[in-house]
Amino acid sequence: MSVEMQLDRPRAGRAITRHVLEAQQFSRPQLEAIFERADAMRGEPEAVADRLRGRIMAALFYEPSTRTRLSFESAMLRLGGRTIGTDNAREFSSAAKGETLEDTIRIVAGYADVIVLRHPDEGAARRAAAVSDVPVINAGDGKGQHPTQALLDLYTIQRELGRLDQVRVAMVGDLANGRTVRSLAYLLSLYRDPEIWFVAPSPVAMGQDIKDHLSRRGVRWHETEQLESVLPLVDVVYQTRIQKERFADEASYLAVKGVYVIGPAEMQLLSPRAVVMHPLPRLDEIDPAIDRDPRSAYFRQARNGVWVRMALLDMLLP
Ligand code: CP
Repeated sequence: MSVEMQLDRPRAGRAITRHVLEAQQFSRPQLEAIFERADAMRGEPEAVADRLRGRIMAALFYEPSTRTRLSFESAMLRLGGRTIGTDNAREFSSAAKGETLEDTIRIVAGYADVIVLRHPDEGAARRAAAVSDVPVINAGDGKGQHPTQALLDLYTIQRELGRLDQVRVAMVGDLANGRTVRSLAYLLSLYRDPEIWFVAPSPVAMGQDIKDHLSRRGVRWHETEQLESVLPLVDVVYQTRIQKERFADEASYLAVKGVYVIGPAEMQLLSPRAVVMHPLPRLDEIDPAIDRDPRSAYFRQARNGVWVRMALLDMLLP
């Protein structure tokens, strides 16, 4: 389908709902609509270069970011819109003077047509949405969720494997603090017959809420600390960083740091058709020696963020 035909369809934004707060708000048809639009925009980027002219996106980031912040900005600029925002909102916004998140959002909603918010507190995006006159997009709320990362992760799986049904995924690393794996688990549960292995040291095991959700959906899931035995079984290894910033003390961090590293030896255990993904940034959990392996999809994954976020912005802004 040409990008014109695709974009002539009624905007799906209303169906996505007003805000993007958590992965479980999406239905399978909505995901298909987002990915179709992302594909169309990727195919003919010049056809959408004026699509959001006159619109303004505010990026409020209270935690560090490279990919999410810059890919959202790139997405908005590629659609002809403009961006405002602050990188280190804890220090450089009036939060430093004691302004509440709610008051900041009330003000920024008067300056922009959409707000992209990253915040260290779980539930912050929901609090922001409750007082915002414009759509709020959760760009990561503490240990909570990172729904737009999950959208681009799922889009990447579709592009890399050619399917989303019957996908076998190993989620590896810091699953207790990793918001991307939480959001991705919700999205995978929408598809037919997924199978998920949670590979983590017990102090950072996947949360019970996610495991309960998967069980209710009839998703087969397993929990193990043995990465090597899982690698030959899966289509996707979703590696994650041990999130030092979320540990109470250095000793707890050091106890689980560096437990799982994907390097040349681990790649030998993987199927030739499997892929390695990572939301990035990485520290030592993926050896750069495998970067050139065609199965290493993490840089392609990061680039996919622009197209998926373009589609999302386009669908959210009336
Ligand atoms: N994947 C991700 O959220 O990366 P950033 O922290 O760089 O935005």
